[in-house]
Amino acid sequence: MQQHQHDHEHDPSTGHDHASWEERYGSATALWSGRVNPPLAAGAADLTPGRALDVGCGEGADVLWLAGRGWRVTGLDWSEVALARAAEHAAAAGLTDRVEWVRGSFEDWQPPVAAYDLVTAHFLHPTAEQRAVLLPRLAAAVAPSGTLLWVGHGYHEEAAARWGADRFVAAADVAAVLDPGEWEVLVAGSRPRPAGEDGHHPDDEVLRARRR
Ligand SMILES: C[S@@+](CC[C@H](N)C(=O)[O-])C[C@H]1O[C@@H](n2cnc3c(N)ncnc32)[C@H](O)[C@@H]1O
Repeated sequence: MQQHQHDHEHDPSTGHDHASWEERYGSATALWSGRVNPPLAAGAADLTPGRALDVGCGEGADVLWLAGRGWRVTGLDWSEVALARAAEHAAAAGLTDRVEWVRGSFEDWQPPVAAYDLVTAHFLHPTAEQRAVLLPRLAAAVAPSGTLLWVGHGYHEEAAARWGADRFVAAADVAAVLDPGEWEVLVAGSRPRPAGEDGHHPDDEVLRARRR
């Protein structure tokens, strides 16, 4: 596993700092369902497998779904516990040779330019300041004819009060970062989450775009 480390202060007010994520993962044997996120299944099922990057891959369900369909996938996350779990799942599924895990923060990991046929990120919820750096970086990592998929929870008042409202972004505002001469926006809007998939957040904001 590659490592890119960065010191982050413990910030229990948002629960978005590194230590809080490690605590969350350490407090349960699995935080997530292990199923692919529906916007990825909808957006990638018809794509020709190539190289993919999943930013904030957590326990690796999306990485393994892609790898199982023939993609070579890099999963980036800063949680050691989550990535160890992801690697175990990959081994159990016989997919170790199709996946690579990178431990580090999206704040200081620089993905290679134009290297991936798919760059996907689900539920990262960076601050507006972090997003202003991250989104152009992820867009630049997409190869010509490749896909960018960005998914976040829809605005939720109670979560916004705890996390900070700027951690929520509408898909249209993500689309606005992309140069229309270089990108075709295929989906930019709110999508209901299937019943039973995280009832606290009924809607996802989904941006799917194809690089020309
Ligand atoms: C809500 S979870 C989503 C996990 C996975 N994408 C999924 O949908 O199941 C957000 C993930 O982003 C990771 N994360 C948050 N901030 C990060 C950062 N600065 N750098 C790398 N990973 C980060 C967390 O460790 C966590 O695994």
